[in-house]
Amino acid sequence: MTISKKLQNWVDEVAKLCKPDNIHWCDGSQEEFDKLANILIEKGSGKKLNEKKRPNSYYFVSDPTDVARVEDRTYICSKNKEDAGPTNNWMEPAEMKKKLNELFDGCMKGRTMYVIPYSMGPLGSKIAHIGVEITDSPYVVLNMRIMTRIGEKVLEVLGDGEFVPCLHSVGYPLTDGKKDIPLPCSDTKYIVHFPEERSIWSYGSGYGGNARLGKKCFALRIASSMAREEGWMAEHMLIVGITSPEGVKKYIAAAFPSACGKTNLAMLTPTLPGWKVETVGDDIAWMKFGDDGRLYAINPEYGFFGVAPGTSFHTNGNAMKSMEKNSIFTNVALTDDGDVWWEGMTEEKPKHLVDWHGKEWTPDSATPSSHPNSRFTAPASQCPVIDKDWENPKGVPISAILFGGRRASIVPLVTEALDWQHGTFLGTSVSSEMTAADAGTVGKVRHDPFAMLPFCGYNMGDYFNHWLDIGKKSDASKLPKIFYVNWFRKDENGKFVWPGYGDNIRVLKWVFERLEGKDVFEERPFGRVPKKGVLDFSGLNMNGNEEKLFEISKEEGLAEVNEMKEYYKIFGDRLPEEMNEELSKLEERYKNS
Ligand code: OXD
Ligand code: MN
Repeated sequence: MTISKKLQNWVDEVAKLCKPDNIHWCDGSQEEFDKLANILIEKGSGKKLNEKKRPNSYYFVSDPTDVARVEDRTYICSKNKEDAGPTNNWMEPAEMKKKLNELFDGCMKGRTMYVIPYSMGPLGSKIAHIGVEITDSPYVVLNMRIMTRIGEKVLEVLGDGEFVPCLHSVGYPLTDGKKDIPLPCSDTKYIVHFPEERSIWSYGSGYGGNARLGKKCFALRIASSMAREEGWMAEHMLIVGITSPEGVKKYIAAAFPSACGKTNLAMLTPTLPGWKVETVGDDIAWMKFGDDGRLYAINPEYGFFGVAPGTSFHTNGNAMKSMEKNSIFTNVALTDDGDVWWEGMTEEKPKHLVDWHGKEWTPDSATPSSHPNSRFTAPASQCPVIDKDWENPKGVPISAILFGGRRASIVPLVTEALDWQHGTFLGTSVSSEMTAADAGTVGKVRHDPFAMLPFCGYNMGDYFNHWLDIGKKSDASKLPKIFYVNWFRKDENGKFVWPGYGDNIRVLKWVFERLEGKDVFEERPFGRVPKKGVLDFSGLNMNGNEEKLFEISKEEGLAEVNEMKEYYKIFGDRLPEEMNEELSKLEERYKNS
């Protein structure tokens, strides 16, 4: 293995602090994966699933207190508080380092410390970047091997180049005869980012994005800050290739808040004949400018970490096929024949299961069998509709960017932005109802600008400005067109108006037509919508609701403008003036409508 002096020094330093019993450098091989999986099974930390049903796949359950990202324990420790901004937790870096040094001191006693060199993005791609995660959780190593490209080959590409050091501990040292538990964690949790020195320290959680530091911590929080400094974009976006019946292919990227069906859109099975959708990524896009002035995107990840409940052959057959083998399942239920099940997987519920608490479960049980945030970890290469260029080091050229939220009213099915600045404004307005809205009423709205609220590694106002800068320094004709979609409008009876899922291709078809410059739009105060009769409703029973999908009354529109004015106040003087300008123009357009 080629290990640079800088990397070796950092590993030595961490070992001195954390005091593990052993150090293991991950080579990324299948043998290593199998060995670690066996160690976990022998300890009783997990189970191997029925080899005939789901080859080479594993089952784990985390501590019931450690089941999701912990936003209130997540920090951006820039030197100045203002640079972390109003949407992040902040602590002075030296003070945080002191705290972390105390917590990490001896935290790996009785355990092995694993060193995982990993690449976010195809090895050697100019858009990719390298990180090294140190962790005391073999379960994290298994997941990192599916989610990122790891091991010796990464060290070769790294040489003595730059890497993002990512230190992780479950915070459960085995001292004084303390016995291990299946997936340990600590009551004290800190997920900390130092954007100026580009490093990550994560303590006390073994689950998901808190522990696999390549995903949300590096690929979004640290990378968004790097991207701003270096003039590129790190976004919470899926990437898909869409091919029309005429054989024309275009790539689009799309940002949605968590739990708005991103993985489903990324693997959509079109209901319109002749259309094809292929997956490049389902969660994160890194985009840099190519020599031709266009934005090229890679999926920095290597696998999918999807929410299990609700995923079925009906809602997302391609996700189901992606996890048929070589996958890891966490916090779902176990079937009697050694496979997995979760709510929504099949219409008929199994007669008997062991639920995620390890308790007997039947359809009469009062609680769900699986945690709502239970997950599958599956290799992206196993997706039946993975795009042929998903590992192309050059990335794929992006023609359109979609924003979306979950709104029962006010936001139309699809709107095209008037230009990049207006599109940036639409990005700032992304929001989602936190709970399902009752019939005709609007639920509590959580603003989630650009779907980046929990993931922006610096001041969100500066992030808006970075988007504007990208627009200013580019040839507008080469930039992606921006659209805003909302699959979740409800009628006065509380029923979804739009069928969603595979029928979303109908909206993508219109987007496609607009990208080709077709005159198929009409202007509304909020932007461009499909001309009457243009959107393909063929074969759908819309109950006469076609127009409802685009309706916003003057009063509703003006109320939304006022709500945005209120919201913008939190950004103070970091809010770009252009955003107030867009808001005023929108207000004018509504007043004149
Ligand atoms: C995710 C999220 O897990 O956005 O991808 O929360
Ligand atoms: Mn996500």
